[in-house]
Amino acid sequence: MTIKQKQIYDQLELDIKLLKDRTVSFESVKDAGQKYDISSPTYINLHKDEQINKIRLIANEIRPKPNEKLLNIGCGPFFSDKFFDCQKYGIDPSKELLNLAKRNHVNAELTLGRAEELPYEDNFFDYIVSVSALHHVEDIELAMDEIKRVLSEKKHKKNFCIALSILTESSRFKIIEKSISYHFTVQKIILEGRDTIFFI
Ligand SMILES: C[S@@+](CC[C@H](N)C(=O)[O-])C[C@H]1O[C@@H](n2cnc3c(N)ncnc32)[C@H](O)[C@@H]1O
Repeated sequence: MTIKQKQIYDQLELDIKLLKDRTVSFESVKDAGQKYDISSPTYINLHKDEQINKIRLIANEIRPKPNEKLLNIGCGPFFSDKFFDCQKYGIDPSKELLNLAKRNHVNAELTLGRAEELPYEDNFFDYIVSVSALHHVEDIELAMDEIKRVLSEKKHKKNFCIALSILTESSRFKIIEKSISYHFTVQKIILEGRDTIFFI
């Protein structure tokens, strides 16, 4: 660990697992997390109900078994905790939103990081969800490659192993929609609130 990485690690209020085995650009994580670090004090009050509505719809379709692994990309305070009974993992670049999740004692392994550099083994997950996060990702193509890499090859053939909820009014929506369709076969789309949810 470099001195800079150590400094960032030391700033973490709680013991959020950091990326140890892969080379990760810590500055990129910090930059990506900054906006939500600042808005974290009001995040739950302002967004919880809206986000829970989307997660409820996703949980109707994505049904992991208790021994299966589910990754939530851009998980924030991990509102999805009680909707899935399985081995849960969350990744987000905002340490303050992850700290909210920790304070709520969510039952998930949380990692500070970005969608573009997922610190997990190939084929590690059975399910992947992401709620209102991918329009914040700097490089959507990298994120899609990473999603494909960490998702179990077996699961690729099953119905609904991925759910990606994207802010419809985002200026990047069309690009992300194209990228999702290029990399995956979209099987169902639901419009919920301000998001479009793609089921793959
Ligand atoms: C609108 S919030 C949604 C948070 C959470 N999914 C929810 O439902 O409350 C957007 C999230 O995307 C995260 N984010 C920003 N850049 C990201 C990146 N490059 N990779 C993964 N998540 C990112 C933010 O830190 C923030 O937690």
